Amino acid sequence: MLDGIHTVGVLGAGTMGNGIAHVFARAGYNLILCDVEAGFLDRAMETIAKNLDREIKKGKLDEAGKQQALKRIHATTDLGGLTRADFVVEAVPERLELKLSVLREADKLLRPETILASNTSSISITALAAATSRPDRFIGMHFMNPVPVMALVEVIRALQTSDATFQTTMALCERLERKPVAVNDAPGFVSNRVLMPLINEAAFAVMEGVATAEAVDAVMKLGMNHPMGPLELADFIGLDVCVDILDVLYRGFGDSKYRACPLLRKMVAAGWLGRKSGRGFHRY
Ligand SMILES: NC(=O)c1ccc[n+]([C@@H]2O[C@H](COP(=O)([O-])OP(=O)(O)OC[C@H]3O[C@@H](n4cnc5c(N)ncnc54)[C@H](O)[C@@H]3O)[C@@H](O)[C@H]2O)c1
Repeated sequence: MLDGIHTVGVLGAGTMGNGIAHVFARAGYNLILCDVEAGFLDRAMETIAKNLDREIKKGKLDEAGKQQALKRIHATTDLGGLTRADFVVEAVPERLELKLSVLREADKLLRPETILASNTSSISITALAAATSRPDRFIGMHFMNPVPVMALVEVIRALQTSDATFQTTMALCERLERKPVAVNDAPGFVSNRVLMPLINEAAFAVMEGVATAEAVDAVMKLGMNHPMGPLELADFIGLDVCVDILDVLYRGFGDSKYRACPLLRKMVAAGWLGRKSGRGFHRY
């Protein structure tokens, strides 16, 4: 266990929050998992148990290990428990006002030395840090979906992040058996700044009739060795999420190269959001 960090708080028990709780509990940390409704927490605990079963099937964990990990997670709707946390990761929905209000509330409850991290995909870490009383102890910790499977954590330094906060966070990722990669705060960080223009260009190619979605994905899989085609990946992420991130890049850089492809916007308007709605560039 990293010096001084025994108990970790996770705010939001959705897709990312339950995965983040999973990897911390697996690594031996006590977890305080917070959400607004008990039903969401029940669903998160079911998902964590199911994902731990997958690890058992793969021979990475035994039944006793699963039970120990589950026992370490305290699921609660009461943020008050966060006073016990030595490190906190925020994973509530990607809405600036909501993030600011949750972070301010947590900031008031946390002990002064506790590091507060955000899992945001696109909001400025520097701006979030500035909204708290601990900007030097604030950092971006961008886990990838599905968290228990994906090795990368993009660790994003705000302008205000101290060296000590940065080093603690990098070391913590290693304890979780993840691969941290350090980047500085800028729109889209590195992951989405590089990925979203690829997805966008793939959508333009389909819109202009250059190729079908199947052909675009086949070119990238067979020719560039991508495990998933860009449009298959866009469907997995959610086309609405892709448009939101492209808008963040467009506004953040003021550069037209990040304008979202009209076909992406049209598909979102039609409710064709990708996997989650049963239809995107492909059908599910
Ligand atoms: N889904 C992804 O692929 C992905 C990947 C990387 C990063 N992210 C980022 O992770 C964050 C969370 O995304 P997600 O996909 O897990 O969202 P989600 O909607 O699946 O989960 C968010 C959870 O936060 C809860 N919540 C809302 N208000 C809250 C509050 N005041 N206090 C505590 N919990 C609250 C919601 O009830 C919900 O359970 C976002 O910032 C997103 O950009 C998502």
